[in-house]
Amino acid sequence: MNSMKLFFITVSLATSTFSLSALAQDAAKGEILFKQCIACHGPKAEGIPAQKAPRLSGQHDWYILKQLQDIKAGVTRKNPVMIPFLSKLNEQDMKDLAAYISKL
Ligand code: HEC
Repeated sequence: MNSMKLFFITVSLATSTFSLSALAQDAAKGEILFKQCIACHGPKAEGIPAQKAPRLSGQHDWYILKQLQDIKAGVTRKNPVMIPFLSKLNEQDMKDLAAYISKL
């Protein structure tokens, strides 16, 4: 009985950890990565019209991540100016960036 109880606790813990890790991210790391985006998007991600770079602050993290993935893939969304920056980022970097930017 005890081991059964432990089993359920373990499963529910594992499940909740898993759902959290669907967007497990590190906003502090995202803040460092964001330094390379400031020239175009602004220090608070407020956007710089002269650069035609849009406001990103306050945007949902899942949407930011989707755009970064799409821009990096370059199929459905073509954004040549960002490619040199995104090509150096992995999936986790983009999640960290999305986490940071969405809180600005
Ligand atoms: C050289 C300038 C430049 C740099 C550097 C740059 N961006 Fe961009 N970014 C743009 C422009 C221009 C657009 C809009 C392009 C378009 O119309 O698709 C854009 C679009 C975006 C979008 C889509 C916004 C939306 O609402 O759909 C996201 C997200 C984004 N950038 C994030 C970043 C991140 C994160 C970085 C740093 C890793 C970065 N950008 C670096 C110029 C830049």
